Amino acid sequence: MARIIETRRLTPVTKYFRIEAPLIASSARPGQFVMLRVREGGERIPITIADYDRQLGTITIVVQEVGATTRMVCALGTGDDILDVAGPLGGHIDIAPGGHVCGVGGGFGSAALLCLMREFTARGDRTTAILGARNKELLILADELRPLCTHLEICTDDGSAGFRGFVTQRLAQLIEGGAERRPDSVVAIGPMAMMRAIAETTRASKVKTLVSMDPLMVDGTGMCGGCRVTVAGKAKFACVDGPCFDAHEVDFDVAMRRNKAYVQEEKQALDRVACLERRESR
Ligand SMILES: Cc1cc2nc3c(=O)[nH]c(=O)nc-3n(C[C@H](O)[C@H](O)[C@H](O)COP(=O)(O)OP(=O)(O)OC[C@H]3O[C@@H](n4cnc5c(N)ncnc54)[C@H](O)[C@@H]3O)c2cc1C
Ligand code: FES
Repeated sequence: MARIIETRRLTPVTKYFRIEAPLIASSARPGQFVMLRVREGGERIPITIADYDRQLGTITIVVQEVGATTRMVCALGTGDDILDVAGPLGGHIDIAPGGHVCGVGGGFGSAALLCLMREFTARGDRTTAILGARNKELLILADELRPLCTHLEICTDDGSAGFRGFVTQRLAQLIEGGAERRPDSVVAIGPMAMMRAIAETTRASKVKTLVSMDPLMVDGTGMCGGCRVTVAGKAKFACVDGPCFDAHEVDFDVAMRRNKAYVQEEKQALDRVACLERRESR
């Protein structure tokens, strides 16, 4: 059981949670995740550790409602308990110190930049965070990220805030902008299509690029094979070998196909939850 001590709506479908989890907070590193279960018999879902406070013994997560389980998580409020929170799981993001690290976040992936930027700035790296969203209303955590990095770049598709265009366009400008602006490494966390586009943006210039893969996961411990991704032509399990991989070696075609394998079942699960919610509200 883990007690929720703070919640905030970030967008109509995205919610911020701070949770009491002292053991996880004591050893969490950027890039790792937890597995959550909200009810007995329910499925476990992987959620990135967005940040942690070792002194307070808390972790921060940001959850986007996309289906049955994320909807149940987002229905929880301050003072509620999450049945199981297991972690930290997966490997952490490993980048040699002393360079310019650029973190690119889209959707809930922007949250994972919090601990990444904080830790890398603290050890003396130059850090740039690029946040992207369709419009200003969907941007999350810009104010929280600003003091944690050297530069914050905001991109919106409609130009309602910051640079008008995609994160990939802004990243390409930085790469072409000379030694002062060019990152030595890029970490992209967000929708698969965005991470694929980032991989293509940095491929020719050979800027070291990591992507945080989010395949379907069942156990999160390397036992079920559900989270298989193809990297450099070899099968890897994102929960134990990742979730971060060299973007230029990931087979995104396979990854995107596998993530759509259970669309029918996921729709049925969401219908069941909606039906239960209607019954309970009567
Ligand atoms: C390592 C890792 C870290 C993650 N971190 C976060 C996070 O910090 N915040 C967050 O909100 N979500 C995160 N996710 C995704 C999250 O686990 C899924 O959205 C969740 O499992 C969906 O469960 P559901 O029952 O609500 O929806 P489902 O009914 O399972 O799915 C609903 C829809 O979402 C799509 N979907 C399901 N799982 C994924 C996935 N893994 N990636 C992309 N699309 C998916 C389905 O194809 C379907 O269209 C992460 C996934 C991984 C693997
Ligand atoms: S989730 Fe089962 S092997 Fe990774």
